[in-house]
Amino acid sequence: SYEYSDFNNVEFDSYMIPTNEISNDGFRLLDVDNRIVLPMNSQIRILVTAADVIHSWTIPALGVKVDGTPGRLNQTNFFINRPGLFYGQCSEICGANHSFMPIVIESVPVNYFIKWISNNVNSSLDDWK
Ligand code: CUA
Repeated sequence: SYEYSDFNNVEFDSYMIPTNEISNDGFRLLDVDNRIVLPMNSQIRILVTAADVIHSWTIPALGVKVDGTPGRLNQTNFFINRPGLFYGQCSEICGANHSFMPIVIESVPVNYFIKWISNNVNSSLDDWK
């Protein structure tokens, strides 16, 4: 689950697409239903925690690996200097579904990010009405 606390707490879940639902050009065990969209050429800070057991939020191509630990907030930061998709997987043996919790970042130009986050802020505001 992801929350954009600097953007009106836009939040969503990001689940792996099951093998029997994935398209022919999809990446089995890696693609998700909702990607984390982030602006390129921006310093990104993330806070990581967990609700059940210890996980590890990892994106190898960004050099990021941070434990998600129940009852704690861990912090790390990174900077993506190009657009594209960045894949990762949980990297702490966390249970029966450890193999099925991939991470996907979609890095986009800042103006696209503004548009994306605006749409999501608006749709979450609609939920309040
Ligand atoms: Cu979560 Cu392994």
